[in-house]
Amino acid sequence: MRDSSAERPSPRRRTRLVPMAGFSLLALLLAACGGDATRTPQNALNPAGRYAQEPHDLITIVLIIAAVVFVLVHFLIIYSVVKYRQRKDDDGSLPVQIHGNTRLEIFWTIIPALILAGIAVPTVQMIFSQMDEPDDAFVVEVIGHRWWFEYYYPEHDIYTANEMAIPVGRPVRLQMTASDPARDPAQGVIHSFWVPRLAGKQDLIPGQMTYLNMLADEPGRYYGQCAEYCGLSHANMRIRVEALDDAAFDAWLEAQQAPAEVPADELAARGRELFGDLGERQACAACHQVWEGDGGRTPGTGPDLTHLMSREEFAGAIHDMTPENLREWLRDPNSMKSMQYEVNGIGMPDLDLTDEELDALVAYLLTLE
Ligand code: CUA
Repeated sequence: MRDSSAERPSPRRRTRLVPMAGFSLLALLLAACGGDATRTPQNALNPAGRYAQEPHDLITIVLIIAAVVFVLVHFLIIYSVVKYRQRKDDDGSLPVQIHGNTRLEIFWTIIPALILAGIAVPTVQMIFSQMDEPDDAFVVEVIGHRWWFEYYYPEHDIYTANEMAIPVGRPVRLQMTASDPARDPAQGVIHSFWVPRLAGKQDLIPGQMTYLNMLADEPGRYYGQCAEYCGLSHANMRIRVEALDDAAFDAWLEAQQAPAEVPADELAARGRELFGDLGERQACAACHQVWEGDGGRTPGTGPDLTHLMSREEFAGAIHDMTPENLREWLRDPNSMKSMQYEVNGIGMPDLDLTDEELDALVAYLLTLE
């Protein structure tokens, strides 16, 4: 007869299990506290419109089914472990050895198959309802660049970057692609557009169009970010959606459609000059468009700056739009969005601007309202 006492967990070990189980439960409980949109602005469990609500509801159903299966299976495991544990008076002989039970095996194959089939029905239904183009959709084109999102409003010929305005209560149809090598040889990577409170996740692929519907029930600010690793500055590629009520949205469209005003101020006028001509150095205008009303709007390789000051953030929506930040960005872009340039050789270059040039350029940018 074997000595079974050596195989039992020691009392010390058992007392350690209690706090561990406690912590696990606490973690589960705390995970349920994420409903506050100001503290967790990118919470898919706090949907703000139909296209985020549907996946959320589906996850809830799947979670309930999974929880029932989890509890059942673990109950059976614990029950068996306790009931058939080794006892003091065991004679050490093996239990009766069995192999196979056709009826049971059919049973536990059919049950999961039925569960999966049951989940498949609402899943497939939801995929179709999510992908369908809504009749009254407002269309916005989204182009993923390294490392910022560009938005084009085809009905109104508006270009903007990082921050996207949408109308409240109206489905928005995003037509998405990634900047392809034809427009910029250093581009051509896949990004993923994800604003968790407004919609699911969708890839942006060079040379291909993908679609995503989103809808915001309430006015407000919704955050998101690129969700597909796209290079060293992937984490600096943020999204901000401003859902505006009808009047505010119409005002936004009107303001964005207006051409940029030529500044009267002397310093800003000097900045405008430098923007278009930096002598030997590449001019800002080579990459950035400031549309003053001549001809059509044509995007450059960098963000459109026509109404730069209408945005609250820049550089992939990671920096506040303050004169100090803009000046530092122009002076030494690498210090503001590190790592990306030396490695990939693109993006905002360091133009070796003098203090005087910096002052003039910042003064000019501040006029682009
Ligand atoms: Cu774009 Cu990650």
